[in-house]
Amino acid sequence: MAILITGGSGYIGSHTAVELIQAGYEVIIVDNLSNSKPEVCNRIKEITGIKPKFYELNLLNEAGLNQLFDNEVIESVIHFAGYKAVGESVDKPLAYYENNVTSTINLCKVMQAHQVNKLIFSSSATVYGQDGISPLVETLPLSATNPYGNSKVIIENILKDLSASNPKWQITSLRYFNPIGAHQSGLIGEEPSGIPNNLLPFITQVAIGKMVKLAVFGNDYDTPDGTGVRDYIHVLDLAKGHIAALNQLEEQKGYDVFNLGTGKGCSVLDIISTFELVNQVSVPYMVVERRPGDIAACYADTHKAEQVLGWQALYTLEDMCRDSWNWQKKNPDGY
Ligand code: NAD
Ligand code: UD1
Repeated sequence: MAILITGGSGYIGSHTAVELIQAGYEVIIVDNLSNSKPEVCNRIKEITGIKPKFYELNLLNEAGLNQLFDNEVIESVIHFAGYKAVGESVDKPLAYYENNVTSTINLCKVMQAHQVNKLIFSSSATVYGQDGISPLVETLPLSATNPYGNSKVIIENILKDLSASNPKWQITSLRYFNPIGAHQSGLIGEEPSGIPNNLLPFITQVAIGKMVKLAVFGNDYDTPDGTGVRDYIHVLDLAKGHIAALNQLEEQKGYDVFNLGTGKGCSVLDIISTFELVNQVSVPYMVVERRPGDIAACYADTHKAEQVLGWQALYTLEDMCRDSWNWQKKNPDGY
């Protein structure tokens, strides 16, 4: 019996595939390679000794998905596949709703038809919207300020309704905070397309000389040093959180949701200084206007994941900065 990973050649999916294989699971990846490369599976093999079975398929192709489930014996699904760029979602809302929401509906229909009932879904801290006060706890009401965030809120609601419709479903949404870092081997990591939107990929590209300077978006927030505070989590801790959630699904009835974060907030300046210190490189920066839509601080309340999943993030900010830089240095042009 295998675990199907949708979006498994992407950033978080590939690290989760490695952790699952190393924990003894059989892994099958389905991905349409819209934001990843086929080389990822070779790298997974280099790390684990096992090349996961790979289906190149768009989840919007329901017939193809049915075929996959006919061919394979699947026990559970971890659903990473989706688009994730906030700015792009504002320009292309229909593409985001279709690719994120419709493909999730397709996946659930096919799972239902094949009596596969266990599903873990990649949600995001973005579902807390702008009004939640950190530490953010799972019971807060959900809201979103852009189509990407809305697609996550909609999918969470669909999965909750689906679980309520039939007690056989066992579904978990995991709300990720800010995943950074890479596998210590430097063989897999995050490969942003074009100019990175997120902080860490931008910093590594400045450090390697592809970008001249980092723009720090505002230093007048109500935070200890005025710059934005986020809950950065090592992607390998996040990957391990999926194994904990998979184990918990065995006992879980219906729908549940967990934050995956460290519970600690770090500012932009904290990240820059840690990155420079650990890696002995310089990251020139200038302070510019706030980025529209940004909030001052966002970090997780992690008690529920600790108590129910028995999971806790273990890697430090130093580990995250070192591993991000190691990946960038070893793969200056990506895969
Ligand atoms: P990613 O883009 O690296 O991986 C997503 C993968 O899904 C890619 O390999 C892409 O090719 C594939 N994909 C997209 N649409 C598909 C489709 N219709 N059919 C088949 N494959 C498809 O992204 P990631 O950073 O690994 O994120 C994984 C999930 O976690 C996403 O759902 C994302 O929204 C969520 N998430 C990510 C972050 C983050 O900062 N990276 C934070 C919170 C939540
Ligand atoms: C972004 C997304 C969010 C998504 C999250 C996780 C937006 C508005 N939000 O959040 O939906 O869930 O990524 O991937 O895009 N910063 C700079 N300079 C930069 C880039 C970032 O100063 O060049 C600052 C930001 O202002 C913020 C922090 O760094 O304070 C982190 O930014 P980023 O990595 O983009 O993540 P989020 O804003 O948390």
